[in-house]
Amino acid sequence: MPTILITGANRGLGVAFARQYAAAGWRVLGTVRDPMKGRAASDAGAEVYVADVADAASIARLKGALAGVEIDILLNNAGTYGERQTLGAIDGEEFLRVMRVNALGPLLMAEAFAGQMGGRKLIAAVSSMMGSIADNTSGGSYAYRASKAALDMVMVTLARDLAAKGITTVALSPGWVKTDMGGANAPLEPAQAVAGMCAVLDGVTVADSGSFIHWDGSRVPW
Ligand SMILES: NC(=O)c1ccc[n+]([C@@H]2O[C@H](COP(=O)([O-])OP(=O)(O)OC[C@H]3O[C@@H](n4cnc5c(N)ncnc54)[C@H](OP(=O)(O)O)[C@@H]3O)[C@@H](O)[C@H]2O)c1
Repeated sequence: MPTILITGANRGLGVAFARQYAAAGWRVLGTVRDPMKGRAASDAGAEVYVADVADAASIARLKGALAGVEIDILLNNAGTYGERQTLGAIDGEEFLRVMRVNALGPLLMAEAFAGQMGGRKLIAAVSSMMGSIADNTSGGSYAYRASKAALDMVMVTLARDLAAKGITTVALSPGWVKTDMGGANAPLEPAQAVAGMCAVLDGVTVADSGSFIHWDGSRVPW
């Protein structure tokens, strides 16, 4: 049975990923920050582990809990949007918090688990069109945009550094999805966006390593 490790598996896209991989017969390891909020992840079919991706010690504890487990897909899904990021009123500490969760967290997770990747050997991260420099025509959201652009660079750099181990890495763009982060006006349901991203992950090969792929399979400009 293939195994996927999903961060932020208690709500939004994370819980939808857990549900779809569990339904497809995968062993799903889902992380939550707060064990009291793990119910949705376990209802979705995940084995629940605690991890705050902004905290290196928490990632080290997760690595200890999963010692010896071979992981086919590491899916860095956890993310945060950030507040007070309008020009003229930038909150610097909040900017750094968002960078820590969205960019450093996936790097530390990849570093922690690269040695345990087997089978599919795929490390994916849920990035965003908002991290695309080419697509930025509207400005604003400094921390979120910068953190996702940094995440994209992390994923490409990991692709180069982990190629010799046969590990493939990709950044995903989920589209605009109805979650707590995406809000009620988003056009996509989580199940639809996640079905698209699961199909993308299913088809990814070593030749795709270091690319940025939209939920519908199209390529996203950096
Ligand atoms: N929704 C969209 O339209 C959209 C578009 C583009 C990209 N994305 C990306 O898709 C991913 C999932 O977003 P979503 O829409 O599902 O958002 P969401 O509903 O706000 O869920 C975010 C998830 O990330 C977890 N998380 C936040 N900070 C964390 C930390 N420090 N450590 C571990 N987990 C943490 C949350 O856990 P708690 O419940 O404990 O807070 C929650 O499980 C994110 O990376 C987001 O940037 C979403």
